[in-house]
Amino acid sequence: MGSIVFSVSFTVNLASAIRNTNLISQHSIQQIQSRIDIIEIIGSYVKLKKRGANYLGLCPFHNEKSPSFTVSPVKEIYKCFGCGKSGNTIGFLMDHDKLSYTEALRWLANKYNIELEETETSPEFKAQQQVSDSLYIINNFARDFFSNALFNTEEGTDVGLSYLKERGFREEIIKKFQLGYNPSARDEFTKAALNAQYNKELLLKTGLVVQRDDRMADNYRGRIIFPIHNQSGKVLGFGARIIQSNNKAPKYINTPENEIYVKSKILYGSYFARLAIDKADECLLVEGYTDVVSLHQAGIENVVASGGTSLTTDQLRLIKKYTNNLTIIYDGDNAGIKAALRGLDLALEESLNVRLVLIPDKEDPDSYVNKIGAEAFRQFIQSEKKDFILFQLEIALKDAGTDSTKKAAIVNQVAETISKINKTTEFTRRQDYVKQVAEILRIEESGMNALVNKFIRERIAKDVPPSPVNENIAQSEGQQTTPATDEAFNLFNQDELHEQAFVRSLVEFGLKRWDDEHSVAQFLFSQVDENDLENMIDNKMLVKIIETYRTWFKEGLEPTAKSFLYGEDQQMNSTIIQLMDVNAEISPNWNQHYDGHIPTREELFREEVISTLNYLKLRKIKRLIIENQADLEKATDPEEQLIFMQTHQHLKEMEIAITKKVGTVIYK
Ligand code: GTP
Ligand code: MN
Repeated sequence: MGSIVFSVSFTVNLASAIRNTNLISQHSIQQIQSRIDIIEIIGSYVKLKKRGANYLGLCPFHNEKSPSFTVSPVKEIYKCFGCGKSGNTIGFLMDHDKLSYTEALRWLANKYNIELEETETSPEFKAQQQVSDSLYIINNFARDFFSNALFNTEEGTDVGLSYLKERGFREEIIKKFQLGYNPSARDEFTKAALNAQYNKELLLKTGLVVQRDDRMADNYRGRIIFPIHNQSGKVLGFGARIIQSNNKAPKYINTPENEIYVKSKILYGSYFARLAIDKADECLLVEGYTDVVSLHQAGIENVVASGGTSLTTDQLRLIKKYTNNLTIIYDGDNAGIKAALRGLDLALEESLNVRLVLIPDKEDPDSYVNKIGAEAFRQFIQSEKKDFILFQLEIALKDAGTDSTKKAAIVNQVAETISKINKTTEFTRRQDYVKQVAEILRIEESGMNALVNKFIRERIAKDVPPSPVNENIAQSEGQQTTPATDEAFNLFNQDELHEQAFVRSLVEFGLKRWDDEHSVAQFLFSQVDENDLENMIDNKMLVKIIETYRTWFKEGLEPTAKSFLYGEDQQMNSTIIQLMDVNAEISPNWNQHYDGHIPTREELFREEVISTLNYLKLRKIKRLIIENQADLEKATDPEEQLIFMQTHQHLKEMEIAITKKVGTVIYK
């Protein structure tokens, strides 16, 4: 409970801080980093108990009865063995309080009284920032103006408020959602805004004001105003609803796209719903503004609206910050179903569990909850919730009737849909679907499985670029690359483990002394040429980590794993976390070498550094051998052939020499 109160008051504090979007200097980040006490920070959200070197508590990210949420003060990371969430202190704040990276840094700086150094941003960025800031300010002014007009003017109460009350909205909920009214006169709002010295150009940008016959006039005359907030409660724009329906005028007018109103990223109601979504671990999605407000009034608060268009990836990611469970509530008519179906594949790709509820004919969530009442509506959602994939299948089957060609197409289509559930963590979920779908279609489960796998393979073949070796062979022989086999994947993974081990050596042991004159990092950089890095390491993120390390190191900083953990690049961040805790154990083979005392990795760092380096060198040599062989086969000139053969001999010798050296430290 404490954490909820905490995050609300904290959002308010932030409002002023967020406006400044200069970049925070590396120096300040280091300062914050050195002050962070992960146990103290996470401990203020989660009750932690010491267990050995770590702390244990109930995971705040999923419901659990026995604790599997572990915090390591040494590694400065947390990991939940129940739901798999992991990260560092900043990641925790971002995840738990839905903050951006900079917001989390600012919050920490504030907590530890650290003065932030900010690096200047570009003039263009600043100019854009100023426009955004001004738009927010105008929107706040407008929101207050419209709200005042609704409650405190005769026209507002007679026309606007009475309309809302007739529809069943109570004053409390109208105030919560900050609804308002734009008077019907030509330019009442415009005059007030100009009087308050707001800039004309900016006023036009907000869409609240338009140029009409050389004069500025109100755009939303005589309409009910729905302010549209972002997740932290700032007003991005408005939806304005006509009161008397009228064929000539559109029912709603919305803010035009501008610096802050980006339709594809907006979910109406997200600010009011976020805590409830977190708590229920489910997000309800409806179409209209009034649906959101009505459901809130009925006590159903984990609800947002898409605003009548199909869902975008950005909107789905916003939902995913809070929950993996999305329940789409749409009108049961054809248009509603079609609109809902359009979002399905995208949602599956974002690994959301999608369920669907259709509201009976001619009703929408707003009218339906008013008709049957809050409790009945809640039960209706619970009992009518259908799995989206199975639902889609049902509709398609009904549609196909007895047409066997159509049925075959459906099998294909549903297999492709299931194949989008493709993260390794979702294997079980995918298999469940295969089983259920096979049952419904009355086909063999194994056949369905094969079909799903085919789609997965096809996509992998399209997405994953061939490794440099394959690419060279393919190019030299003019062949198409073939889809990767499982075997190829295992091989690839083996390589990847070695790459990881190398980077781990650098990051973990880089600052240790290698010899009298050099550190481990210096030694490794002398062995792996800067220009050769991409040839030696396939994984782009690992290359990036090495390059970042090298840059910092050259600048005189002393990089450790922690330095990376506090960088902005979240992907890099999670790669480092993986590196640090992935199977970094000594091979059991060491038992044979040492009686009794099994050395730690710390004690054996020299062996580990050499060993990981040699693996990379060996792999590079193997690749060179393959390349050279291809060249040899192509060569026609005897002199050329000789050179290639000598090269082969030389490479083979190097291979043998290195093979003798590797293999002392083995990773699981
Ligand atoms: P009420 O009819 O007052 O209950 O509103 P509603 O929110 O239920 O509207 P409806 O179901 O007709 O439409 C769903 C959503 O689509 C609305 O909330 C708007 O976001 C959007 N929408 C509807 N009509 C229009 C329109 O004419 N123009 C624009 N830009 N958006 C619209
Ligand atoms: Mn409606």
